[in-house]
Amino acid sequence: MNSINNTLFVGKVLNHFDELPSTNLLALEMLANERITEGVVVSTFNQTAGRGQMGNRWESHPNQNISVSIVLLPTFIQAREQFHLNKAIALAVSDFVSLFTEGVAVKWANDIYVGDKKVAGILIQNTLSGDTIQSSVVGIGVNVNQTVFPNLPNASSLRLASGASLDLPTALEKLLKCVEARYLQLKTRKFDDLHTEYLSKMFRFGEDFIFQYPNEIYFSGKIVGVTDAGQLTVMTKQGMENFDIKEIKFVI
Ligand code: BTN
Repeated sequence: MNSINNTLFVGKVLNHFDELPSTNLLALEMLANERITEGVVVSTFNQTAGRGQMGNRWESHPNQNISVSIVLLPTFIQAREQFHLNKAIALAVSDFVSLFTEGVAVKWANDIYVGDKKVAGILIQNTLSGDTIQSSVVGIGVNVNQTVFPNLPNASSLRLASGASLDLPTALEKLLKCVEARYLQLKTRKFDDLHTEYLSKMFRFGEDFIFQYPNEIYFSGKIVGVTDAGQLTVMTKQGMENFDIKEIKFVI
């Protein structure tokens, strides 16, 4: 695999490896060391030291799942607008997962759930230049054919959700196609449409729910929105409160 056919630019250069520590790490190194065209992809089905959000690891059993990083150059969005890119990518992965199963939701900020289990994670690493995004490494991990998740009670896969196992190269092509489609939508700068769709797909939107502060104190509230900066807006007894990712936990 060194190129895919059914896209305009995403995956036209496809660097696929039998094994790799982290596709995001390699894509970041490539960006730092060479001139890269937009849409270059780094992928593996055997990622050994995957990086997750907030410094966590992303675990994936060998040859069962997709680990992919896409280099994008979204110089048309301002640094302060960067959460729109997160929304577009979350919707792309949600579109992809929805090809195989129902009940797909985006758990803020950009985890992809089927029912109450996570099937895919996204790690976007942007390089800013002044007020604009110079480059972006969009890392996506999708649990495809893995059926056991030791010590990860909230994890699932497309196979567990749909009952069918998938051909990984074919699934990767479909995922890249979904990413390109949503990125082209982002390029039109119709941010309101993306925002509305993101909210409509949001896990537990508008439902009464229990949350936790980092100090472990529980509180009840209702998700009512997401700010332009990507904070979660929750209606609590005190009124509307905005939270960063490190300031709030969902209690599932
Ligand atoms: C998360 O939910 O914590 C984000 C997980 C992101 C994992 C993907 S797999 C491909 C890319 N390479 C990495 O090292 N991480 C991302």
